[in-house]
Amino acid sequence: MSPIPVIGTATAMKTKRRERITIPVIAIDGPSASGKGTVAQRVARQLGFHYLDSGALYRIVALAAERGGIEWSDGDSLAALATTLQIVFEGDEIFLHGENVSTVVRSEAMGKGASEVAVHQALRSQLLNVQQVFRREPGLVADGRDMGSVVFKDAETKVFLTANSHVRAERRYKQLIGKGNHAILAHVLADIEARDARDKSRASAPLIQCDDALFLDTSQLTIDEAVEKVLQHYRHTN
Ligand code: C5P
Repeated sequence: MSPIPVIGTATAMKTKRRERITIPVIAIDGPSASGKGTVAQRVARQLGFHYLDSGALYRIVALAAERGGIEWSDGDSLAALATTLQIVFEGDEIFLHGENVSTVVRSEAMGKGASEVAVHQALRSQLLNVQQVFRREPGLVADGRDMGSVVFKDAETKVFLTANSHVRAERRYKQLIGKGNHAILAHVLADIEARDARDKSRASAPLIQCDDALFLDTSQLTIDEAVEKVLQHYRHTN
């Protein structure tokens, strides 16, 4: 899959109505550490579809704001900042103004920053078209919090992928330890629950399960099983 440049978010082209109707989208929403990123990437690979990690966009804005001295609470400045960012996704790598920022963008600090900047409607509106241009032939798998409810409302295949907070905390804890980070399980759980509360209670595009989404609890599933269930749902809805 060729890299998708998101060059100058202000100039992102408008998605054509025709494309919205014909190009399939699998919208996967769910809370932090539910495994939706891993599942979405695998599904995209199996189908040969493009992949959008929408959380990465909010994480990049949080990083650029921190570097530029802009408060995460200043929605209008964040929205203006987003128009200036030169972002490129290439496989697993994320480049900001040509710099590989993959590791820092995926840090716990930027996860928290993302959930703070993401509450601002001005920023969300700015990022709407940027996300919609990822809908390209032959199809797209998009993961986030509002893929099915806002960004790709007309997607035929929607999944709400979750797991109980203790399972999610353990998965995140193992990931952190595996990467050589120091972590305390109780703190990881508290962070996840705080992030869930913020994502579900905000006024703009809160995390919700759409009526037309498949509910998939992965607490007792392997990644392969979860991938297969999403693929089955895709075949069923297309
Ligand atoms: O999915 P990820 O953990 O990278 O997302 C980081 C944060 O970005 C989430 O906690 C959420 O607040 C925000 N986000 C969002 N809408 C999306 C994707 C992520 O508000 N579509």
